[in-house]
Amino acid sequence: MIIIKCYSGGTRFVIVVGFLAFKFAKINPITAYKFARKHFVHNHLKDVTRKYGYTTPVSPLYWLFRGIMANWLEWRYYRRSRLPILVPTYLSLGLVNIQLAGVRPQMTEKYFRNQISAIIGHDENSDHDIHADSHTLRILDNYAAFAGRLKIVDYGSKAAWPFLDKWGQKIFDCFVIPLTK
Ligand SMILES: Nc1ncnc2c1ncn2[C@@H]1O[C@H](COP(=O)(O)OP(=O)(O)OP(=O)(O)O)[C@@H](O)[C@H]1O
Ligand SMILES: [Mg+2]
Repeated sequence: MIIIKCYSGGTRFVIVVGFLAFKFAKINPITAYKFARKHFVHNHLKDVTRKYGYTTPVSPLYWLFRGIMANWLEWRYYRRSRLPILVPTYLSLGLVNIQLAGVRPQMTEKYFRNQISAIIGHDENSDHDIHADSHTLRILDNYAAFAGRLKIVDYGSKAAWPFLDKWGQKIFDCFVIPLTK
């Protein structure tokens, strides 16, 4: 029997079918229109879209392209780095990415963060680059366990890349996933 599961992230809607995860870009034309109208009224529309592009919620482009960009960047980073800590992204069509499906690691957030601290240095707070994208890197939901190894499923944000470049291999080698009963 094929197991189907659905998840909703900030930028993607994910459907897991068997061993594959289909990551669909979220597109919100109504919110984009509301922001466009607001900026148009204040004569800011051109400046805002030029300055922020798809990167911040104040820009209408964000609500149209944030998911597509996350998919595209995830694919690009996987192709470029091939780090073993990355869950493989097999294909990107922009609107949808196809990734190997993983299962959420069975551990507490506290255990997870303690392990990361032990690997990257005892004082996690002194290491600024995990906080460059703490929304992604410090959240257990963004990881999966594969044969006793920790991997990350969400790496479609450029801000996470310096940390993964620096620590990805070591975390993959050293992170201990607790045994489940
Ligand atoms: N390859 C995968 N295998 C299994 N589950 C996955 C996979 N990719 C994503 N998921 C699930 O879908 C959720 C949302 O995916 P992801 O974090 O990649 O999207 P996002 O929109 O970028 O999320 P965020 O809210 O962190 O911005 C994840 O938290 C995870 O639970
Ligand atoms: Mg996520």
